[in-house]
Amino acid sequence: MPGPSPGPRRALLSLWAALGLEILGLTAVAQEPFWADLQPRVALVERGGSLWLNCSTNCPRPERGGLETSLRRNGTQRGLRWLARQLVDIREPETQPVCFFRCARRTLQARGLIRTFQKPDRVELVPLPPWQPVGENFTLSCRVPGAGPRGSLTLTLLRGAQELIRRSFSGEPPRARGAVLTATVLARREDHGANFSCRAELDLRPHGLGLFENISEPRQLRTFALPPEPPRLRGPRLLEVGSERPVSCTLDKLFPAPEAGVYLALGDQRLNADVTLEEDALTATATATGTAEQEGSRQLICQVNLGGEIRQAQENVTVYSFPEPLLNLSEPSAPEGQTVTVTCTAGAQALVTLEGIAAPAAGQPVQLQLNVTENDDGRGFFCYATLEVDGETLSKNDSTELRVLYAPRLDDSDCPRNWTWPEGPEQTLRCDARGNPEPSVHCARPDGGAVLALGRPGPVTRALAGTYRCTAASAQGTAVKEVTLTVEYAPALDNVDCPDRMTWVEGTEASLSCAAHGVPAPNVSCVRSGQADAVEGLLLVAREHAGTYRCEATNTRGSAAKTVAITVEYGPSFEEPGCPSNWTWVEGSGSLFSCEVDGKPQPSVECAGSEDANEGVVLPLVSSKPSPRGPPPPSDLPPGVYLCNATNPHGSSVKTVVVSAESPPHMDESTCPGHQTWLEGARAAALACSARGRPSPRVLCLRQGAPRPERSRVSREDAGIYRCEATNAHGSDSRTVTVGVEYRPVVAELAASPPSVRPGGNFTLTCRAEAWPPAQISWRAPPGAPNIGLSSNNSTLSVAGAMGSHGGEYECAATNAHGRHTRRITVRVAGPWLWVAVGGAAGGAALLAAGAGLAVYVRSTACKKGEYNVQEAESSGEAVCLNGAGGGGGGEAGDAATESPAGGEVFAIQLTPA
Ligand SMILES: *[C@@H]1O[C@H](CO)[C@@H](O)[C@H](O)[C@H]1NC(C)=O
Ligand SMILES: *[C@@H]1O[C@H](CO)[C@@H](O)[C@H](O)[C@H]1NC(C)=O
Ligand SMILES: *[C@@H]1O[C@H](CO)[C@@H](O)[C@H](O)[C@H]1NC(C)=O
Ligand SMILES: *[C@@H]1O[C@H](CO)[C@@H](O)[C@H](O)[C@H]1NC(C)=O
Ligand SMILES: *[C@@H]1O[C@H](CO)[C@@H](O)[C@H](O)[C@H]1NC(C)=O
Ligand SMILES: *[C@@H]1O[C@H](CO)[C@@H](O)[C@H](O)[C@H]1NC(C)=O
Ligand SMILES: *[C@@H]1O[C@H](CO)[C@@H](O)[C@H](O)[C@H]1NC(C)=O
Repeated sequence: MPGPSPGPRRALLSLWAALGLEILGLTAVAQEPFWADLQPRVALVERGGSLWLNCSTNCPRPERGGLETSLRRNGTQRGLRWLARQLVDIREPETQPVCFFRCARRTLQARGLIRTFQKPDRVELVPLPPWQPVGENFTLSCRVPGAGPRGSLTLTLLRGAQELIRRSFSGEPPRARGAVLTATVLARREDHGANFSCRAELDLRPHGLGLFENISEPRQLRTFALPPEPPRLRGPRLLEVGSERPVSCTLDKLFPAPEAGVYLALGDQRLNADVTLEEDALTATATATGTAEQEGSRQLICQVNLGGEIRQAQENVTVYSFPEPLLNLSEPSAPEGQTVTVTCTAGAQALVTLEGIAAPAAGQPVQLQLNVTENDDGRGFFCYATLEVDGETLSKNDSTELRVLYAPRLDDSDCPRNWTWPEGPEQTLRCDARGNPEPSVHCARPDGGAVLALGRPGPVTRALAGTYRCTAASAQGTAVKEVTLTVEYAPALDNVDCPDRMTWVEGTEASLSCAAHGVPAPNVSCVRSGQADAVEGLLLVAREHAGTYRCEATNTRGSAAKTVAITVEYGPSFEEPGCPSNWTWVEGSGSLFSCEVDGKPQPSVECAGSEDANEGVVLPLVSSKPSPRGPPPPSDLPPGVYLCNATNPHGSSVKTVVVSAESPPHMDESTCPGHQTWLEGARAAALACSARGRPSPRVLCLRQGAPRPERSRVSREDAGIYRCEATNAHGSDSRTVTVGVEYRPVVAELAASPPSVRPGGNFTLTCRAEAWPPAQISWRAPPGAPNIGLSSNNSTLSVAGAMGSHGGEYECAATNAHGRHTRRITVRVAGPWLWVAVGGAAGGAALLAAGAGLAVYVRSTACKKGEYNVQEAESSGEAVCLNGAGGGGGGEAGDAATESPAGGEVFAIQLTPA
């Protein structure tokens, strides 16, 4: 704010600045005795700030004083020679307050200098254009209003942290405030998105204050590049109503491509575009759909906008409608012979053509009528429609097939009459019939048997061969065809028609019959091994035809070979060494007659007796076949003439065989009894032992142990065991014979005990005899003697309760087959006691009286000489001796009997009372 007289003030200030205030003050002090002073003389205050100024004088009696300033004051304090005043809201860039006092009519003055500074509170970067084309200059402008003093300011323009330009305003007058810095910058791609800012620095450090900095809000630059050319737009020229076509729009060299906007539209209908970016290229694709409302000429538009600029391309599109032509058959499936109408129609603008016949005008149909035949089945009809759109001819068509129903046909081409196949590999049997509807075909044996599997691959077996009736049937009818299936296969020689073995009969006619199976019929030829020529026709069979033949069967499918063995058979015939005319049979030898007969097959032989003696007897034969269980060897075979009859299927032959029979020795109980008995004293005899056998065997008997001495009469020593042996040419037989010697009985002892018995006591008599066979003992007691008992073998006679009636003669008799011998003992009773006296051998007269009393003498007399009848004599009152000459009839034995030695023996038994 310029004062009323800026000129002198400015000059003064300049002066101060040159000389300094102190020098000025000192000058005043030096000039005047009295002065006024102002403190502080020079001050730098922030704009709007406040300051106390102290105004003083050394005038002893100042009249008045004050402080002159245009600045607002807030408060004042006064003294006699001073005043202090607060200046507030100091805004003037520079003011000079004056302190004055009146002193002795003079005015004392002191002038001060107050300056203000202002921090760069507002640093403003002028807004940048919203989009800046790359390669063009743009202006960066920075304003710092009010900040000052300008001479202390420095402004810097920054891109990010990079300094673009820096400017200092030093040298500007102190009152200058505010600053502007402008720069022209070339926009580059890399500046896109860069932040630009402006920094202001107020450097008051030389004035004892600080450095005040501030920086503007950053401003972001957006740069872009958009080529001048329009985008490339691709789209259909024609678009059918209801169809969809792709549309694409491409623009290159775009920067920044992602920021670009695309607008694609068909007529007034915006298309939904898919945008893809590739480096600096942008491609928008969309699908254009023809709609009926858009029918007509339309524009396809593509607009690309970036940085506020637009590039646009457009194409003309004609949207048209072309309905499909319609091909109609009056009957899509017609039976043969029927008339079918074919009609072709299309939209009003279209021109149709059917089977080469064009419609007279657009929009009119074409019709065709035909009498359908089998050949029309599957025939296609074609309806062709054209439409002129925008100078272009469009076409559409429709087609349809006619089905003609007709009866099945079995053609030779699809179902051959003859099939010939090799056996084995899989084949597909085909018998196809034509016909509509498709006929079903089946082939079966005429007799209604096996059915052929048609159309499926399957193995060909010979069982399939034969004639089949193939029937094709559909709703339209039936066709029948006979078909022959021939299955070819290589020959096979089996055992039935070409046996491994054949048998021929000598002298007959035969042919080598070897038939092979195979289709076609094979040729068979048989060659004998080792020979070259094939055997053919009938042969008169001889034994040399036997052998091995090789038969080979051949046809077009292969060959087979087989070995056939031929056997020649013939009737039986005898040969002397094999079946001798004379045969000796030995009984028991088990030998069989060997009769070998030549013949094939081996003849069976049977030899049977032909005479009365051996009629029906069959000779046992050595079996040619070793059989474990042949006929058992015969035990007996009558000798004589036998006829051997050899038989096989080819005849029989007979031979006479003379059989003689011999046997080895044989002894048995009948010819040589095992037990033989001789009688002592008889004339010495030979053993009765003979043997059967042929030739007659010789028999020899020898005693075991000591040999039998020669003597004329049989003695007891001749008893013993003898061994007899019979021998002839076929062997020997032996037997053991036991010889016993028998003799007549002899009573060797007759005794009584005890020696004497009192009446009422018991006594026994004991009789012992020697004899072979052992003798029977019998007793004879006095008649009427009671209480007599016998031991079991009669050897002891016991008497209980002896009494007088027991007195008398007792006789013991020993008897066997060869004789009888007796001895007697007499019991005497002496009463009242009974004494038994035992007489000696011959002492019948001896009296043995041991005391007084009744004595009974028993006189024992032996019957003299002769045979004794074994007869009970107890019942008779007297001892009975039966003399007789012919009791035994034993001949020699009777002669050899010895005299009884018992003559006159008397045993006396005395019974004494107790
Ligand atoms: C003005 O003076 C009054 C009273 O002395 C004081 O309270 C106030 O703060 C002063 N104003 C300034 C701006 O210093
Ligand atoms: C941009 O400015 C510079 C310096 O001011 C000048 O030399 C240049 O030609 C200008 N460029 C354009 C494209 O205007
Ligand atoms: C588009 O059609 C208009 C009038 O129908 C024509 O003037 C213009 O040349 C056509 N534009 C193109 C690219 O064919
Ligand atoms: C069609 O067939 C019928 C009977 O078979 C016959 O009468 C008629 O003439 C035929 N039409 C034509 C066009 O051949
Ligand atoms: C095949 O068929 C014909 C007749 O069609 C017949 O003469 C002939 O014998 C048949 N067999 C063979 C093997 O050709
Ligand atoms: C068989 O025996 C008879 C009489 O003994 C004899 O004549 C004949 O020659 C014998 N035959 C043979 C083959 O030995
Ligand atoms: C031999 O045996 C056969 C068969 O058994 C019989 O036919 C034939 O007559 C017999 N011959 C004689 C001679 O017995």
